[in-house]
Amino acid sequence: MASLNDEIKRRRTFAIISHPDAGKTTLTEKFLLYGGAINLAGTVKGRKATKHAVSDWMEIEKERGISVTSSVLQFNYEGYCINILDTPGHQDFSEDTYRTLMAADSAVMVIDGSKGVEAQTIKLFKVCVMRHIPIFTFVNKMDREARDPFELMSEIEEVLGIHTCPINWPIGCGKSFKGVYDRQTKKITTFTAAMGGQKEVATETFDVEGTDVDSVIGSDFHAQLRDDIELLDGASDEFDQELVSAGKLSPVFFGSALTNFGVETFLEHFLNMTTSPLPRKTTTGVIDPFREDFSAFVFKIQANMNKAHRDRIAFMRICSGKFEAGMEVNHVQGGKKIRLTQPQQLMAESRKIIEEAYAGDIIGVFDPGIFSIGDTLCTSNEKFQFEGIPTFAPEHFARVRQIDTMKRKQFLKGVNQIAQEGAIQIFQEFNTGMEEIIVGVVGVLQFEVLTYRLKNEYNVDVRLEQLPFEYIRWVENPEEVDVAKIQGTSDMKRICDLKGNPLLLFINSWSVGMVEERNPNLKLSEFGKN
Ligand code: G4P
Repeated sequence: MASLNDEIKRRRTFAIISHPDAGKTTLTEKFLLYGGAINLAGTVKGRKATKHAVSDWMEIEKERGISVTSSVLQFNYEGYCINILDTPGHQDFSEDTYRTLMAADSAVMVIDGSKGVEAQTIKLFKVCVMRHIPIFTFVNKMDREARDPFELMSEIEEVLGIHTCPINWPIGCGKSFKGVYDRQTKKITTFTAAMGGQKEVATETFDVEGTDVDSVIGSDFHAQLRDDIELLDGASDEFDQELVSAGKLSPVFFGSALTNFGVETFLEHFLNMTTSPLPRKTTTGVIDPFREDFSAFVFKIQANMNKAHRDRIAFMRICSGKFEAGMEVNHVQGGKKIRLTQPQQLMAESRKIIEEAYAGDIIGVFDPGIFSIGDTLCTSNEKFQFEGIPTFAPEHFARVRQIDTMKRKQFLKGVNQIAQEGAIQIFQEFNTGMEEIIVGVVGVLQFEVLTYRLKNEYNVDVRLEQLPFEYIRWVENPEEVDVAKIQGTSDMKRICDLKGNPLLLFINSWSVGMVEERNPNLKLSEFGKN
């Protein structure tokens, strides 16, 4: 029997982030393929979810029984127990994506080699930086015409503000992609596609020393490689594990998820360089993952996964110790002892009931409607709370009204429950109470999901009137300023959240600075607190 320490030490919990279409799903699938969790790539259901309309998407979500919005996959590889936190592949993501990153210990950033750093990568990257977690870069689609690798590296450095250190280096790209050169071992790995990437790729590895490299990759590519290596050795940052662990240096890998080129090399290096479960901050200090007491926090709530049962599943990240099915824990925010029932873990396309889990793992438990995002659960009686999950700034706003005024109660119940899951944020007019509801979302798709869910799950038709605001700021020091008297701009609107905390909405970004200038005592923040 492996000890608690061994079990925790072998865990690697990470999120994969990318702009849609960069190849995140494909890469995840290839990890599963190498981990033996699936036999043939292309079989993970819901792959095509990105291309469906909203209603189909919701149907898919139910059909699969697991969340398309962000699921967790666990598999074993070379003695490691890997938890991949998948973030939505949808064009239009929600806050879930951000929150999922709070449960991860590191992130893999997939970049399309022909496109470079794209908009959504930047957003997600910011959250990783905020948490100082290690970030690994996989430059994908090298089997297609790609941009110059040096140019890609400087773009990552400039746009994202992180240093990079290529671990391997591509030899050619597109049709003439020969393989990669490993800078640490000084070996070249060449590739031959196998079954169009459905099976693990056959690779051949050559030591640069003592091999007729010209005959393996051709003299032109060899010359180019020599030049590139010289330039890299002279100009790029050296690998430094401490900087990687602090999220200041991103190891970069090149490959092609579709054809499996570079996937296994990436996985091996990555698992070595990334971290086992990290300590987490709480109100009473840092919690070490290896301590015996079980502790976890809720980072996602998924409702109505099964319409017949109207069930809710709370997903939690285990931060310390061991979880055992049916165990009794303190629900700190609820102030009660509860038994965690129906613990589940997600494996590729199915859910399974689990008996035990360890720090680093993600489990879903049945939620009778008592959990909120950010809640702490623990077996110790210390009653600490894990650091709150920030409320991320919505970027789209709409006024929502129910069409049938008789259905006010269902409407409020639906909107509140959906907000509790964190899919939307709800606000009210400043100082006028709950008459008008303003909904804020991170991705505009959430408006459609909201309308769809209110109709299907709560039988309420609503009308949405989109508002032109794009920027939201929480007033950090409402006790020090009179919000009603803030010197605003013409595009500023005062609102408050359900707890009565004041916020400001703006149409233009420059107005934010203007208001800060006009009101020197006012402190504004981009993130709210749960
Ligand atoms: P995402 O989750 O990041 O949104 O991307 P996904 O993996 O779904 O990949 C987006 C598209 O890019 C897919 O093509 C996929 O096959 C392709 N792709 C992924 N990795 C590579 C790669 O290394 N090389 C090449 N050439 N293509 C890659 P699609 O046409 O949208 O779907 P499909 O018909 O191939 O399934």
